[in-house]
Amino acid sequence: MYRAPRGTSDILPADQKYWHYVEAKAKSAAQHFGYSRLETPIFENTRLFTRGVGQGTDIVEKEMYSFQDRGGDSMTLRPEGTAPACRAYLEHGMHNLPQPVRLFYFSPAFRYERPQAGRYRQHHQFGIEALGDSDPSVDSEVIELAWRLMENLGVKSPTLMINSIGDANCRPLYLESLKNYYSPLVPNLCQDCKQRYENNPLRLLDCKKDSCLNFKQNAPRTVDQLCNDCEKHWQSVLTYLETIDVPYLINHELVRGLDYYTRTVFEIHPEKEGSQSALLAGGRYDGLIQELDGPPTPGIGFAAGMERLVLSVKRQNTEVAEEKPVKVAIVHIGETVTQTAIHIASQIRQFGVPAILAPAGRSMRSQLRYVNSLGIPYAVIIGQDELDKGSAIVRDMAKAEQMEILIGEVANHIATY
Ligand code: HAM
Repeated sequence: MYRAPRGTSDILPADQKYWHYVEAKAKSAAQHFGYSRLETPIFENTRLFTRGVGQGTDIVEKEMYSFQDRGGDSMTLRPEGTAPACRAYLEHGMHNLPQPVRLFYFSPAFRYERPQAGRYRQHHQFGIEALGDSDPSVDSEVIELAWRLMENLGVKSPTLMINSIGDANCRPLYLESLKNYYSPLVPNLCQDCKQRYENNPLRLLDCKKDSCLNFKQNAPRTVDQLCNDCEKHWQSVLTYLETIDVPYLINHELVRGLDYYTRTVFEIHPEKEGSQSALLAGGRYDGLIQELDGPPTPGIGFAAGMERLVLSVKRQNTEVAEEKPVKVAIVHIGETVTQTAIHIASQIRQFGVPAILAPAGRSMRSQLRYVNSLGIPYAVIIGQDELDKGSAIVRDMAKAEQMEILIGEVANHIATY
């Protein structure tokens, strides 16, 4: 038997209502804050990610689904949405529009990771990006949007963690002091951290291994070595968040796994989850567009894992309505009435009421059982006798009450229920 590839899953009909629910809340939050939808292709030139996300990152080193197309170009299934959004911003001259340009997207993302709960090889992201404005008020806007989405989804006791990791001015000095601190500890670090020390020292703060935890605790903090501009920005972001009552927790170890981040970084975690559990994550990336050969252009955004949001909505037992469930089924007995049954169903749908035909060729009892088992509230029953009289029977399944109605008026009548 064929199975979906490891780390991927089918989103089955029974789950769709949760996905639609989360999508609707996310879209409405984005639009409420003035964001417009952008969709980019599922694959891009590999270089967009190697340059955008960064050579030393797990994503680029180990996780990309890259392939050579028939023209010999290296393509990569999108592992994330920020670099593609910046590419689209540049390609379509959005830097000529009034800034900031506010964008949101829903898109699948592909990473060759070790699958586990909440971690997949194909996941789906809801993301937003505000491009072209470095003001801290935009940071607080983006974080507020994320926070309001958690509120609107009824996520129980989420934690917003925030940090500033400085910029091209102050980061090099910070990294130097971080390396000085870690230098005598290298022999005791885990294998991954030994590599991080060489290639991407900031990620030393991201290690989740017990053996490295103690070292992290005494490591120098990014926020203690910010340059004046970054410090001013950081303080403003915190003040603005307090003004709008968005509660935050400063986490000095929060550095994020993608290279493009500058200044503000943040994550929102659910109550009681492991370290791999961020519902959403993001930050500022003021150097990314320039890295992609554009003019110096600041940006900030976040992406939320749709699977993780859906899971949290399900766990909370949130009441999620069926979207337009089927309201009526046409029970039809005998080949001669099928044509009329098809016509009635078609008319009912044209009145905006979802309708289906019960399976042909079965007895009335069997068809009614089918209608019942799907929880469809009304049946329109038509056999040869009814057809001869030019009428049909409309049955309320729960009350077991029925009435006879002229065929031409069935659709009109059902639409009033
Ligand atoms: P990220 O932290 O790599 O950031 O992913 C964002 C979110 O996507 C995570 O917080 C998580 O909810 C979800 N996610 C990531 N990987 C997986 C996975 N393998 N399985 C399930 N869910 C996953 C980014 O992608 C940045 N582009 C976010 C951003 C936007 N930064 C600025 N703008």
